[in-house]
Amino acid sequence: MPSHHRSLRILVSSLAVAFALASCKSKPTEEAPEPAVEKVELPPAPAKFPKLKIPADNPQTPEKIALGHQLFFDKRLSVDGTRSCYSCHQNEHGNGGETSLAVGALEKQLTRHSPVIWNTAHFEAFYWDGRAGSLEAQAKGAWGGGNMGVGAENLDKKAAEIGKIQGYAEQLEKVFPGQGATPNTIAKAISAYERTLICNDTAYDRYAKGDDAVLTDQQKAGWGVFMGKGQCAVCHTPPLFSSAMSVPGGLYYNVGIGTDNRPEQQVDIGRMKVSGQESDWAAFKVPSLRNISKSAPYFHDGSVPTLEAAVKLMSSGGIDNKNKSALVQNRNLTEEELASLVAFMTALDCNQKLEVPQLPE
Ligand code: HEC
Ligand code: HEC
Repeated sequence: MPSHHRSLRILVSSLAVAFALASCKSKPTEEAPEPAVEKVELPPAPAKFPKLKIPADNPQTPEKIALGHQLFFDKRLSVDGTRSCYSCHQNEHGNGGETSLAVGALEKQLTRHSPVIWNTAHFEAFYWDGRAGSLEAQAKGAWGGGNMGVGAENLDKKAAEIGKIQGYAEQLEKVFPGQGATPNTIAKAISAYERTLICNDTAYDRYAKGDDAVLTDQQKAGWGVFMGKGQCAVCHTPPLFSSAMSVPGGLYYNVGIGTDNRPEQQVDIGRMKVSGQESDWAAFKVPSLRNISKSAPYFHDGSVPTLEAAVKLMSSGGIDNKNKSALVQNRNLTEEELASLVAFMTALDCNQKLEVPQLPE
């Protein structure tokens, strides 16, 4: 992308000129004045999201969304009453997980970190390894699997239990006439709610729509690094900040997370478990970077505690291993460039929160 390189050179050289001018003019004892930052040409910022695909057999209705919202927050869905979907996707943690690795119902230790679920409906493959092909399948997976601990074979029974709660019985009959409470109707309602979790009004989005004043100069410099020298946009493509969104089957890369400090047979092989391809060994889905500043710890195993450390790791070439993607390289960023990248990430903070609904008795 030659235009990015050009604008980056303009950015770098104009900053250098500004610094040189500033240091010439100031007397040695005086504090250097703020370098006059010229208007620099930055890469264009795309704003328009692709159209959200709604499955033909699960149209959105306000009643269904309201029902799914309640179910998402209801711990009675879990085997032991200790977990709702929300338990591992909370506002306080950027709607990702709190602990490095999630802990499911019955205190079951799981093997991966809970991802941020904003804009998740734009994915066409779910989980870090993309093993679920729809939100509906994912919801049943989480509900029947270790997250909620019910067991796939017990979902019918659990659904019937939920259907005995009067408030749910009424809503389910209204939203799914003649079907009532089944694993499918419950998963459909939850998915309809998840399709409303769209984060598209961040500082970045307002900047992309032409409000130049919403980003600080440091954030703008960070945007330049993100698109240019840092080469982050290759995989974290704006405006969704994940190239894996809107792509049938998703996109997976090995950046080395979880491949070090353990024998090879203990490495989480990620996408390879789904595809069977050697080339997918320890490859994981490209996560979106929206809400990233609020969703520590980072990566599929939650192994990196801070955003600074995560950005540094990604921009210095990830972790070497036998299958690392050639697209992750050491970009030799300066401390200043790293700081600007981190500052830019905060421009992706989502302003909304999941509302806690009233649950039926
Ligand atoms: C115990 C914690 C926990 C609970 C409870 C939980 N999740 Fe998750 N969620 C996770 C983890 C961990 C992953 C990633 C697992 C993986 O990739 O193997 C995940 C992944 C997801 C994803 C995929 C996001 C993506 O980027 O692909 C969605 C959507 C999601 N959960 C929704 C739900 C729903 C709906 C429920 C309730 C039915 C739920 N979660 C319950 C921990 C949890
Ligand atoms: C080759 C594609 C690729 C490139 C280039 C890339 N990333 Fe990533 N990024 C990924 C993948 C894949 C993951 C998830 C890896 C994992 O968890 O195993 C990830 C994870 C992250 C995370 C953690 C996200 C989370 O939810 O935990 C951050 C932060 C991040 N990248 C920032 C960057 C920055 C900044 C750059 C540019 C310097 C960059 N990435 C370049 C593919 C890429």
